[in-house]
Amino acid sequence: MSDFPTEQKALDVLILAAGLGTRMRSAQAKVLHRLDARPLINHVCRAATALAPQKIYVVIGHQGEDVKTAVLTEIDEQQAVFVVQEKQLGTGDAVNSAREFLQELDSTLLVLSGDVPMIRPETLAALVQQHHRHRGKGAACTILTVKLKDPTGYGRILRDDTGLFERIVEQKDATDDAKQINEINSGIYCFNTQKLFDALSNVRNHNSQGEYYLTDVPSLLRDAGEDVAIFHHPDSHEIEGVNNRAQLADLERILNRRTISKLMLDYGVTFIDPKSAHVSAQAVIGRDTIVYPNITIEGSTVIGDGCAIRSGTRITNSQIGHGVEILDNCVIIDSEVGNNCTVGPFAHLRGNSKMEEKSKAGNFVELKKTRLGRGSKASHLSYLGDATIGENTNIGAGTITCNYDGVRKHETHIGDNVKIGSDTMLIAPVTVGDGAITGAGSVVTKDVEAHLLVAGVPAKVKKNLKEDTKTNS
Ligand code: UD1
Ligand code: CA
Repeated sequence: MSDFPTEQKALDVLILAAGLGTRMRSAQAKVLHRLDARPLINHVCRAATALAPQKIYVVIGHQGEDVKTAVLTEIDEQQAVFVVQEKQLGTGDAVNSAREFLQELDSTLLVLSGDVPMIRPETLAALVQQHHRHRGKGAACTILTVKLKDPTGYGRILRDDTGLFERIVEQKDATDDAKQINEINSGIYCFNTQKLFDALSNVRNHNSQGEYYLTDVPSLLRDAGEDVAIFHHPDSHEIEGVNNRAQLADLERILNRRTISKLMLDYGVTFIDPKSAHVSAQAVIGRDTIVYPNITIEGSTVIGDGCAIRSGTRITNSQIGHGVEILDNCVIIDSEVGNNCTVGPFAHLRGNSKMEEKSKAGNFVELKKTRLGRGSKASHLSYLGDATIGENTNIGAGTITCNYDGVRKHETHIGDNVKIGSDTMLIAPVTVGDGAITGAGSVVTKDVEAHLLVAGVPAKVKKNLKEDTKTNS
């Protein structure tokens, strides 16, 4: 027999995502609930896209517009086709709502559930391959199954005496005997598209839920003499569905554990207490970085080599360079920290702030939309907002950029080698030139030229430091 499949049809994907998900007890449609900070449906879409199908059909219903928006952040508009299921009459009815697009197609249809987010593209590719190769001619249907310790809630796979597929029984329709079966239907299948729609016409809703079950299609195909195959997969986590919040939390934990073990084993990151760290699967951390207990790293954060991240810190969608020390209880959002910087304890960086290399934002310092130049330091109790600060400048304890006049925000610009005295109020818009000094407690209401010393309320020029250096030399 030839190794080559005789049936290598083009691939389309259909994702079921119209249900509300009653068991979530939520106002929000289930597929919009987040795993690793991304909607469940996005995870499924990403896996589907990796197979490069012709089209990805998404069945929408509950909060359809929001689901559509989420899907389009993951899939190209040209590749996505949205199908509305008006009433949620069951998974069979959901597939049926795409009939007009699909029933004539000579293709393979991979059916996915919007609430089974951990599925990997490699597994789907293997499923499709086995479906095409089945007995050298391809199967009419191939069902992805796994064995679960606790199969409660899932459809069970019934096999005949020879071990071949017989039918799927839903939990709610199962006899006590069937409930003992621990091989379950993942809700992921490959179909010969035309055969699927032919059989779907014969699905009835005579079951305990009064729904049209997609799970009746495989046995209808089998009864019609078609080949129904089973693709048994060893990793049960991949196909765990999210039906309630406890399952959602389980998957979050599993995904987190996977992410952290990959970072430890493949990337050389030390976690002092892996169980108490929460790291997004999208994040990257460099080698020899040490992560202390109780930290959260979210979104597409990138952290360099040899950093230390102390307890209580959250970093979201930010870039951290190499050799950075982030002390306890910092919040860093949408910001950039250069090589060898020091942050915290209790620092807050946000709004595209940028710390250039070897700079420091210390105890209780907040930077909003602010650039802190190379080697500059704000060590204690400051708010620096809408500001640019040059190189090797020192911002004294308690300095505030008063950027808001009650109506609008204004900018503060501070040059290189400046010494801002403790408790200086900088009334923006205002500029302090290179080499200038402000006295402790100054309220700076006007621009300060380079190399002037100002002090007082409001701050007045006390000395020209340039002349000072001249006379001194
Ligand atoms: C389904 C399977 C079950 C399988 C399990 C795997 C059926 C009848 N049962 O059960 O055998 O073990 O998945 O996770 O298919 N949906 C619609 N329209 C509807 C109903 C559902 O689009 O009218 C969507 C849902 O949004 C969801 C998916 O289909 O994304 C699965 O529906 P759900 O109600 O969660 O099915 P299960 O009870 O989990
Ligand atoms: Ca489900």
